Amino acid sequence: MKTYRIALIPGDGIGKEVVPAGTKVLKAAAGAGEFALTFEQFDWGCENYLRTVRMMPEDGLEQLRPFDAIYLGAIGHPTVPDHISLRDLLLRIRFGFDLYVNLRPVEILPGLESPLRGKGAADINMLFVRENTEGEYCGVGGRFKRGTPDEVAVQHSVFTRKGVERVIRYAFEQARRRRKRLASATKSNAMQYTMVLWDEVLREVARDFPDVTVANYHVDALAARMVTHPETLDVVVGSNLFADILTDLGGALQGSLGLAASANLNPTRQPTGPPMFEPVHGSAPDIEGRGIANPIAAIWTAALMMEHLGEPAAGARIMEALKAVTGEGRVRTPDLGGRNTTEEFAAAVAEKLAA
Ligand code: NAI
Ligand code: MG
Repeated sequence: MKTYRIALIPGDGIGKEVVPAGTKVLKAAAGAGEFALTFEQFDWGCENYLRTVRMMPEDGLEQLRPFDAIYLGAIGHPTVPDHISLRDLLLRIRFGFDLYVNLRPVEILPGLESPLRGKGAADINMLFVRENTEGEYCGVGGRFKRGTPDEVAVQHSVFTRKGVERVIRYAFEQARRRRKRLASATKSNAMQYTMVLWDEVLREVARDFPDVTVANYHVDALAARMVTHPETLDVVVGSNLFADILTDLGGALQGSLGLAASANLNPTRQPTGPPMFEPVHGSAPDIEGRGIANPIAAIWTAALMMEHLGEPAAGARIMEALKAVTGEGRVRTPDLGGRNTTEEFAAAVAEKLAA
């Protein structure tokens, strides 16, 4: 029997609540006996930083490399500056393992409503492909004359032809498997170097996919389109920053940030490390410790993990169980107007899987 080794990084805040919830569901999914899962937990995050001045150990990537997948909650706490916690853990893994695709589905689950009036599951069904290893998040820049009236801060964006090409190609491949429409987020009117390169590469790669209809939108107009005409959007590809922003809007369109799932992938044949699966949301310090975080994003993320590990039937079973629970509408966390806890929701999904 195939055994998958999963590295758990609950992280901070509600990450420590939704990862156990998702793990419970994964264990129930493995209960069918087609494969086995083993879990090893890494208590890396802001508490670790306050003790050791590191978010994760220096050899953290080496410790993670032997695993089949990483399942992460969220990183960030008010006790540590966000630019340190994000860069020293999450970005180190994404960049270090060259996980250049960040895949983020935006769909309406049964029983749930979008805040968009008159729009439902048939209208809102998008797949975001976010560039995940360069662009605006490359971390190149500096500060000069700190703390003086003449202070200067420079933050560069780095776009490489290789980096842009591979993520756009992946997005075209996804579009081909879906409704054959690809929208690209650009801003080449104002950003005449990086975004013009992005647009050129989009046109070049499009030649290999004549069956896919391409639309190139300025990112601001695309944000508006997500609200006014979501049914016109299928696969959407965007840079690290643009797609980060658009996918929180996507989560809001789904009904809560607690619903948005994501997979960090390196779809090449020889990846340099394991893929990482994490909800889109952050550590939500405003609700941490209360046991009321919505675990749907984490559970959906677990389904993506099984699918990408090569167990699509298990991924589909998790999604079916999740949809059965949302469809019934009996168990809901407060962000969706309910009164249930994180654990109660996860238990309801696990119960469906066991049935
Ligand atoms: P956030 O996503 O943590 O929270 C935004 C709002 O959504 C909050 O009101 C929160 O209560 C709500 N929310 C988020 N997830 C929820 C869930 N599962 N159930 C119910 N409500 C939920 O974003 P924010 O407040 O900007 O960031 C908080 C911290 O998280 C910061 O330290 C930030 O750097 C970090 N962060 C980490 C991310 C990651 O690890 N991937 C992603 C985004 C933020
Ligand atoms: Mg984000």
